[in-house]
Amino acid sequence: MGKLRVGLIGAGQIVETAHLPAYLKHEAEVEVTAICDINAGRAAQVAAQYGIPESFGSHREMLEQCRLDAVSVCVTNKFHAPVSIDALNAGCHVLCEKPPAMNYEEALAVYEAAVKNNRLLAFNFHFRHSEEVKALKEQINKGAFGEIYAARVQALRRRGIPGWGSFTDKAVQGGGPLIDIGVHMLDTALYLMDFPEPDYVLAATHQRIGNRPGVGLMGSWDPDKFTVEDSAFGFIRFKNGASINLETSFALNMKEASIMNVHLFGEKAGASVFPLQVFSENGLTLTDTDFPHLQQVDKHYESIADFIRSCIGSKHPVYKAGHSLIIQKIIDAMYKSSETGLPVKC
Ligand SMILES: NC(=O)c1ccc[n+]([C@@H]2O[C@H](COP(=O)([O-])OP(=O)(O)OC[C@H]3O[C@@H](n4cnc5c(N)ncnc54)[C@H](O)[C@@H]3O)[C@@H](O)[C@H]2O)c1
Repeated sequence: MGKLRVGLIGAGQIVETAHLPAYLKHEAEVEVTAICDINAGRAAQVAAQYGIPESFGSHREMLEQCRLDAVSVCVTNKFHAPVSIDALNAGCHVLCEKPPAMNYEEALAVYEAAVKNNRLLAFNFHFRHSEEVKALKEQINKGAFGEIYAARVQALRRRGIPGWGSFTDKAVQGGGPLIDIGVHMLDTALYLMDFPEPDYVLAATHQRIGNRPGVGLMGSWDPDKFTVEDSAFGFIRFKNGASINLETSFALNMKEASIMNVHLFGEKAGASVFPLQVFSENGLTLTDTDFPHLQQVDKHYESIADFIRSCIGSKHPVYKAGHSLIIQKIIDAMYKSSETGLPVKC
C-alpha cells in the first residue's frame, strides 16, 4: 500500500496546532495531499506555508478531485455532520473534531454513513490518549476497581468564556460549555466506564454571567450575542444502575480558575484522573496511590497517530463505532431536561 492520502477540511486553529503537525510527523506513512476551507484564501495560505500540494474553497471539490483515503474534519460544529457524511460517501476514513455533531439525529446519520461505506469514523477525544487514562484503563480492565458504579465529571472554568471563534453562538456551536468542554470529560468517564447505556437524565443549564459584561480570562466576548449556556449541571442514570454527576461551565463563581477532571468510584477502588490518584484499601489500611512517573504526552498527537495506525490497519482504533451516539444522546437529554424541568428518558 502507498502512503495514506490525507485531506484537511477546515484550515483553522486546531488544524494548525494539532492535526497538521501530527500528520507531518508521520511522513513515512502519510501524504498530506490537500486542504480546504470556505475561506479559500486561508486554505491557500496554510497550503503554501506547509507545502501542501493543493488547496480548495470547498470540501466537495477537494473530495471530487483528490482521491483521498482519509480526512480530518476540523470545521465549525454546525458542519461536522454534513461534511463528515460527504467524506464518508466519497470513500474516506474520517477523524472528526469533537463534538461528534450538533445533536443525536445528526450523529446517527454520520454513524450510518460510516457503516454503509465501511469506513473508519473516529473523533478527536484526545483525553482518552493521555497516560493517565491509559494507565487507569489497564487497571480497570484487570478488575482492580471492581464495578465502577458512579462518577463525577467536571469541566469548569471560573471566567473562561472563549473570546474568539463562535463558541458563544448556539446556532453554529450547538451549545456552550456542555458541548464544548464538558463533552471531553464526559467522554473520558464513559470510556473508563465502558460506555454503559444511559437510561435517563435530569439537568439544569444557566445563562447568568455570560449575558452581561464582566471579567474575561480567555479574551472578551459580546454579551448581547451570548446565546449559549454558561454552566450546566446534570445527573445521568444508566441502565446498569451506575450514575454520573456532571458539572461544566465557561463562567461560574468558584475558587479555582479551571478544573478538568473525572472522579471514578468503584467497588474495590476509586480514582481521580487528572492528576491520577487511586484510592483503595489494603487489609486494615486505606491506601492512596500517586503516579509521579507518568509521562506527559501530546494527547492530540497520540489521538491522530491512533487514527493513522487504524487507517493503515496496524491496530484497532481506540474509538468504537457508536460511542458518539451515547455521548450525543446524553447531551441532547441534558438540554431537553433543562428546558422542560423534567427528567428525560434517553
Ligand atoms: N479536541 C479539542 O480539544 C479541540 C480544540 C479546539 C477546537 N476543537 C474543535 O475543532 C473545530 C474547529 O475549531 P477551531 O478552533 O479550529 O476553529 P477555527 O474557527 O479556528 O477554524 C475553523 C475553520 O473551519 C472553516 N470552516 C467552517 N465551515 C466550513 C466548511 N463547511 N467547510 C470548510 N471549512 C469550513 C472556517 O472558515 C475556519 O477557518 C471545532 O469543532 C472545535 O470544537 C477541538
